[in-house]
Amino acid sequence: MASNELLVGLDVGTTKVCCLVAAPNQNGGLDIRGMGTSRSRGMRKGMVVNIESTVESIREAVAEAQGMAGCQINSAYLGVAGGHVSSFNSSGMIGVGKKMISEEDISRVYDSALAIATPMDREVLHTVVQEYKVDDQVGIIDPPLGMTGVRLEVQVHVITGAVNAVRNLINCVMQAGLEVNEIVLESVASAEAVLTPEDKELGVALLDFGGGTTDIAIYSGQRIRHSAVLAMGGNNLTRDLSQSYHISLESAEKLKIEHGCCNVNISNDDEFVDIVTPLSATPLKIQMSNMRQLLCSRIDEIMFLINSEFVRCGYDELIHEVVITGGSSLLRGATEVVKIVLDRPVRLGLPGQSAHIGGLAEIVSHPSYSTAVGLCLFALNRGGGGFRNVNFNRNESKSFFKKIIHSLSSFFSNKNSF
Ligand SMILES: Nc1ncnc2c1ncn2[C@@H]1O[C@H](COP(=O)(O)OP(=O)(O)OP(=O)(O)O)[C@@H](O)[C@H]1O
Ligand SMILES: [Mg+2]
Repeated sequence: MASNELLVGLDVGTTKVCCLVAAPNQNGGLDIRGMGTSRSRGMRKGMVVNIESTVESIREAVAEAQGMAGCQINSAYLGVAGGHVSSFNSSGMIGVGKKMISEEDISRVYDSALAIATPMDREVLHTVVQEYKVDDQVGIIDPPLGMTGVRLEVQVHVITGAVNAVRNLINCVMQAGLEVNEIVLESVASAEAVLTPEDKELGVALLDFGGGTTDIAIYSGQRIRHSAVLAMGGNNLTRDLSQSYHISLESAEKLKIEHGCCNVNISNDDEFVDIVTPLSATPLKIQMSNMRQLLCSRIDEIMFLINSEFVRCGYDELIHEVVITGGSSLLRGATEVVKIVLDRPVRLGLPGQSAHIGGLAEIVSHPSYSTAVGLCLFALNRGGGGFRNVNFNRNESKSFFKKIIHSLSSFFSNKNSF
């Protein structure tokens, strides 16, 4: 297969960078051809804080993915997250004068929903049509082409991001030698990898519980209803352990992964774990029940904020199930605690639950890789399937971030030709 038929997803996370190379397969899914990961050294809470280190981490991940897939990677679908991302719903309405609705009407109503003022420092990242309404007929998912009515309305989910934060990320990718095909909200990407069409129909909240952020996406009736990014994640748990036990972040991370548990149903109050740290001569004794309390109180806080977001956005009642993914969803007992706090059924989301993943599928069967797999699925379905309505009928050249990508591309190509 030619390199230009391969799909590349690049997830620049707070703890790791993952570059995934995949090819469309005959089952409508993806065959994984190669993956590269590196430790993310220049990101904090989903945002770039050190350009040079981020560029280096991206280069490492891309080089490894190229080696495994045996191809040259020139461009990628790029995930974006961070506390700067926010979303709202906007509606538009036009009169169609009792005639059949045309493509032009769909474009006009869409533009009327987007005729909204965004602050100077923010720009639209994604727009997703939620539903159309023709006169009093509600719940129309696909563009109502050919239907007749007097009034056409549309509800659009608009996701915005801080211009500088996104520009910094695009800049790093380009300095690492890659073009950006498109930027995709990470929770939207993760949802593509782990949510089934039934989940999206019945009403589900996806929580991508990563290192620096917890990304939320709420779906119902096949459409995204709300999205948000909380600037807290598994790194907060590591930091809590490090501060409470006066150990380094590395030792705290090891302690969390090897012995961490937040399951309140497990009674191991008398158990202790000995950890050897580089700073102390004798092993440190840590009581399991004490560590569980520490982890639980931080997870309670994160889930409390998530629950408030469910209520604040007004879609609380639509959420019948919660799916957690991202590396921190692997903390022992996490699904049980989330079930109790959010008072809903909870399941672990692994890449491949939504679409057939073949090839080197086992290397991505970990919740940390949901975003990268989802970015490739987004690329596969672009312009069709669940994403038909993303940026539907929008003049792509008007997109602000497209302009940034374009201007940075020319900057780097001029620079390379010196
Ligand atoms: N087995 C495990 N138990 C507990 N935590 C884990 C486990 N494996 C990974 N983690 C945690 O998962 C987090 C990393 O998850 P992930 O790879 O999804 O984050 P990221 O994509 O780099 O960050 P973000 O999406 O927040 O920018 C780290 O905090 C790590 O400690
Ligand atoms: Mg992530």
